[in-house]
Amino acid sequence: MSSEVHLDNRLQLCAAFVRRGARVADIGTDHAYLPVWLCRNNICPSAIAADVKPEPLARGRLTIAAAHMNDRIEARLSDGLQSIAEEEADDIVIAGMGGELIAKIIGGCPYAHNPQKQFILQPMTKSEALLRWLCANGFTIRRQDCCVAGGKYYTVLSAYYTGQTVKPDALFPYTGLLRPYENETHRRFIQGHIDRLRKQAKGDAAFSVLADRLEDYCENGTRDSGLV
Ligand SMILES: C[S@@+](CC[C@H](N)C(=O)[O-])C[C@H]1O[C@@H](n2cnc3c(N)ncnc32)[C@H](O)[C@@H]1O
Repeated sequence: MSSEVHLDNRLQLCAAFVRRGARVADIGTDHAYLPVWLCRNNICPSAIAADVKPEPLARGRLTIAAAHMNDRIEARLSDGLQSIAEEEADDIVIAGMGGELIAKIIGGCPYAHNPQKQFILQPMTKSEALLRWLCANGFTIRRQDCCVAGGKYYTVLSAYYTGQTVKPDALFPYTGLLRPYENETHRRFIQGHIDRLRKQAKGDAAFSVLADRLEDYCENGTRDSGLV
């Protein structure tokens, strides 16, 4: 196995959110490409590559060994953050899972309310459910961006606990901090939401109204504050 690790645009965007010098826990690491890349490029001094299943963790161990990173990266069996202590990681990456599972993993983290911890999240599906959960549970979105990888559009966001629970307007779970009116990649990501809402609209006209409002937002950045 080569000792070089190449990140696709999706994992590269996750990497760009990691704070320089942060100790990282990569939850659901599978192949462990992200922690190896972060340590190899000296963004992180050390990392924990965690997975709930032994088979993906074994894949991760191979990548870590091939990169000669055993002294800086530990592969650990863990359901979410259950087996990772509070003082072991500053930035917690949860990538490549559904938005609802990501929310469940944060909800089960005993120290998620430590505001020093930064969660870097890359939902493959249901990003709107994740944003709703974060808003309802006192997390603030610090930053959000999108990328295209293998012809698909993805979003990555970072969040930390402030204790402020806000009721977002109807658009926020779909738009987050994205600026589709000036960024084509953001627009294409939100277009995916619009397309899904249009399909759902066949059973419920409220989805059609939401899709219309999202299109307006993509066009000119205006939000219909009456839509809650
Ligand atoms: C599709 S892979 C994503 C790999 C990598 N994070 C990425 O984005 O390319 C999802 C991984 O999450 C792991 N996983 C699922 N639920 C988990 C949990 N509760 N705790 C830790 N890992 C979990 C799975 O075993 C699987 O290896």
